[in-house]
Amino acid sequence: MIKNLLSLNDLTKDELISLLDFAENFIDADGKFKKDNLFPDKTIANIFFEPSTRTKCSFDIAGKNLGCSVVDFNSENSSVSKGESIYQTVDALSLMGVDLCVLRHPNSVISELAEYLPEMVFINAGEGSTAHPTQTLIDLMTIRQLKGSIDNLKITIVGDLDHSRVVKSFVEGVSNFSIESLTFSGHPSMCSNYMDPVIGSYEPNLDIAVTDADVVMALRIQHERFETDMSLDLDEYKHLYQLTTERISMAKGDAIIMHPGPVNMDIEISETAYQSENSVIRNQVANGVAMRMAVLARFLSQ
Ligand code: CP
Repeated sequence: MIKNLLSLNDLTKDELISLLDFAENFIDADGKFKKDNLFPDKTIANIFFEPSTRTKCSFDIAGKNLGCSVVDFNSENSSVSKGESIYQTVDALSLMGVDLCVLRHPNSVISELAEYLPEMVFINAGEGSTAHPTQTLIDLMTIRQLKGSIDNLKITIVGDLDHSRVVKSFVEGVSNFSIESLTFSGHPSMCSNYMDPVIGSYEPNLDIAVTDADVVMALRIQHERFETDMSLDLDEYKHLYQLTTERISMAKGDAIIMHPGPVNMDIEISETAYQSENSVIRNQVANGVAMRMAVLARFLSQ
């Protein structure tokens, strides 16, 4: 049993499925999140070195729903701004009694931190362009709720794949299942790592990529991670790669439309597609609380 959740590759298929099952237990018959005072003696810290709404707030709510004390660590107002290293920062939090750190960082630091501070439990809440494991757990939970199973599905992912930690973790997670197909699509300059993928295939024509799909996931252009200005022709981008209701109609009638958020509305997805009955984007946000309750409960119980 692993101590930290750094990558979905660290979980066995059984462990991953048990987290999907466990998360459902935190939703009551009315669709509300259960509040159980399971961990009144535990303290978690939300340490975010990048902006976040969904991940940070859902971990905050999840921790409080489980009876934990939750430290909202504000990196900009902390002693990090005076030059203190992240190692000393997390060590200080550990000495103050923090049991588990939920950490988002633009660089790959969490594995080293976990080695430096073996007593601390770490949950990766989004690390650079490399991993966002809890987002994929939410996405798999949402797919399973809506489609009944993750097996035998045709899945298409479109957008800025090269900068996406969501797609990296999704590939790790979905590799545990017998999906029918995984198709990557998007502007070639944003999909260079997915032209010849380990699983699945690249299809530059989004109309072809979405045809008969069961699941279509759109990802935002991550302007903040571009090292050079792409001089993107936004109108052309939208014409070729925007998920619209016309394109959704090419997928299966009961296809689900996903997006991890935040959405650049009317860029990677049209507002009508976002609001269509196929869209489960708001389900993904809501499932964030239940899944993060499951993750916290699992990793605090060791
Ligand atoms: N999906 C996701 O990580 O959203 P936030 O950046 O709002 O946390």
